Amino acid sequence: MSLSFEGRVVLVTGAGGGLGREYALAFAERGASVVVNDLGADTKGGGKSSAAADNVVEEIRAKGGKAVANYDSVEDGEKLIQSALDAFGRIDVVVNNAGILRDRSFARTSDLDWDLIQRVHLRGSFLVTRAAWNHMKNQKFGRIIMTASAAGIYGNFGQANYSAAKLGMLGLANTLAIEGSKYNIHCNTIAPVAGSRLTETVMPPDLVASLKPEYVAPMVLWLCHEQCQESGALFEVGAGWIGKLRWERSQGCIVRQKNQPMTPEAVRDQWDKICDFTDATKPASVQESLQSVVDVLSRVELEEEVSANPTAAAASASGINPTEAVGQKLPPSTVTFTHTQCILYALGVGMSTKDPDHLRFLYEGHEDFSCLPTFGVITSQAAMMDGGLSSIPGLNIDFTQVLHGEQYLELYKPLPTSGTLTSECTIADVLDKGSGAVILLDANTYSGDELICYNQFSVFVVGAGGFGGRRTSEKAKAPLPPPKRAPDAVVIDPTTRDQAALYRLSGDWNPLHIDPSFAAMGGFKAPILHGLCSFGFAARHVLKQYADNDPSRFKAIKVRFAKPVMPGQSLQTEMWKEGNRIHLRCKVKETDVVVLSGAYVDLHGTSEASPENLTQGGGLQSELVFAEIGRRIKDTGSELVKKVNAVFSWEITKAGKNPAAQWTIDLKNGSGSLHRGPYSGKADVTFTVSDEDFMEVVQGKLNPQKAFFSGKLKVRGNIMLSQKLEVILKDYAKL
Ligand code: NAI
Repeated sequence: MSLSFEGRVVLVTGAGGGLGREYALAFAERGASVVVNDLGADTKGGGKSSAAADNVVEEIRAKGGKAVANYDSVEDGEKLIQSALDAFGRIDVVVNNAGILRDRSFARTSDLDWDLIQRVHLRGSFLVTRAAWNHMKNQKFGRIIMTASAAGIYGNFGQANYSAAKLGMLGLANTLAIEGSKYNIHCNTIAPVAGSRLTETVMPPDLVASLKPEYVAPMVLWLCHEQCQESGALFEVGAGWIGKLRWERSQGCIVRQKNQPMTPEAVRDQWDKICDFTDATKPASVQESLQSVVDVLSRVELEEEVSANPTAAAASASGINPTEAVGQKLPPSTVTFTHTQCILYALGVGMSTKDPDHLRFLYEGHEDFSCLPTFGVITSQAAMMDGGLSSIPGLNIDFTQVLHGEQYLELYKPLPTSGTLTSECTIADVLDKGSGAVILLDANTYSGDELICYNQFSVFVVGAGGFGGRRTSEKAKAPLPPPKRAPDAVVIDPTTRDQAALYRLSGDWNPLHIDPSFAAMGGFKAPILHGLCSFGFAARHVLKQYADNDPSRFKAIKVRFAKPVMPGQSLQTEMWKEGNRIHLRCKVKETDVVVLSGAYVDLHGTSEASPENLTQGGGLQSELVFAEIGRRIKDTGSELVKKVNAVFSWEITKAGKNPAAQWTIDLKNGSGSLHRGPYSGKADVTFTVSDEDFMEVVQGKLNPQKAFFSGKLKVRGNIMLSQKLEVILKDYAKL
């Protein structure tokens, strides 16, 4: 079906000639009522004449179209929109096209050259669009075009004033697209190329003649049609070609280390990496952009532990080529097991008949006989243990320098107590950490066709760094630091002198864990415990403490192996409950050295907090308010989602506990929901405030702005959304 503009009212500014004229004719031809605006100025903004607009109106009418002329400058934005309303009763589309040039080298640019350009292009577009905005909002339809220019996108000699104004319009358009989205107001930007009186001074005549405005107009019509859902985008268009532009950002590089000042020398030394666009990302919003910057804080916090690894050796010539290695698959491996392996593993990670709770993992005749969830690493590690890594092209590494850096395991269903599982292992990424390389191995484990679990092994190869690769990867499952408060629970559990000798029977045959002379070569005074053994200890501590030893509650675990443990030492697991996420840290009790860091276990549970299952036990006044908000969402959630369209998180602090509670109000998805504890999705804005101050704000005793400026209320993310809170909180003053 052809695209019709019947019933639509379109304003094109600067439509007396060039591109604007072409747009006006094209809209009118497809049924639109057109306001043909043109001041009739010369190319530098001087003079004034009604002839330009009148001629185009006449042309349209001669073809049977509907059009009126307007001779005001775009600086009188209201008057242009009033013309549309007077003649046709509404305004649907605004094409900001009027323009002039006052080209000068920067040194010779006068105040007038600068101001006139800003006034016509940027301020003019602002004034015309603002005058149309509320009409569009009320009718829940609007299409706006901003006209930028390649000079703004790339810069152009002699056009400092013009480039600044043109890219200013892009910024304006980006925000209008966001603010307009829920009213069906779309705003896009074009950088056109066409022969016109503006370009005839810079282009040869035959090019001016062949780059016709009619090769641009169809793009403007499409962007302004009700069928087009594009918004907030930028296009170059000319000669019948159209291309879309977006921002690209290098992976970048952290140039700061924990507890050390950031220096300009570090910036200089990492310059190539900062500017390397290999595997660049494409952030598309302030939130995405900010999130990655905020993530750096926790990455810096955890970084030190890797470089402080006790076996760090001098860097050696490296044979790593990530482009070759990434995406390579290891040969699939199959493991068949029975209850014997499950029980052997449980004993390996310290389960004992001393604890009656453990029997369900140790006795195949038990009515609830189960396999420990962390057995999921055993079934997958075979793929690596078989020496598969050494066959990967681009991974020419010294296998005596390999350390297990981190582990992530996620279960999609409880593990069976016997069966055959097949694992497929892929090199997800190879990172350059300077002192070493990190190989990220993703393993999917299947029973037949059914995906049972996913592991990410993060393997640190000492001395293999410096190959010029990226330092971070979006594919890495990141460790997370625990909350800054005393742990909510602590479990102390001794390992035995033979713990490693027992654990290795589950399939990790590395002599480092049994052979004293081999351990000595690695710089250890005795064989060390397997990192995955401590991992198993910690996981079962959480399972017992927070999930009543029910394996079906176990969802995922992440740990970083910070330091080795000697068999016979005691493990002290510290735990912090944050909703369904249990942060944990594991230390050697005797030495107080942290051995598992950045670790957490995710449990299945009811993450959605309904008012009914809210406990009053937290002792926070804010709980009552959130309970009420939860009730309201149940009643009028869909309506609120339409009005608000955002996700808000709160971190409520109390008596130095930060946070004492976390809440998320999701008014963006579905019919809205309230969540307690850490939120798995992404909040648009996060507030941190004390329980007391929160209550003062909701009761109207404390002005939120004041609270913000006095530091009582901290805001991360899209601060502008705070204004929408009023819709949710305004009635709580009565509570
Ligand atoms: P043009 O000079 O033929 O058209 C611009 C029109 O705007 C003129 O008719 C002029 O009288 C009118 N105008 C100037 N000041 C005004 C004001 N204050 N109020 C109302 N009308 C006013 O130029 P062209 O090439 O058609 O340019 C259209 C737009 O496209 C401009 O914004 C220009 O900067 C932009 N552009 C054009 C390119 C090209 O290759 N032609 C390249 C990049 C951008």
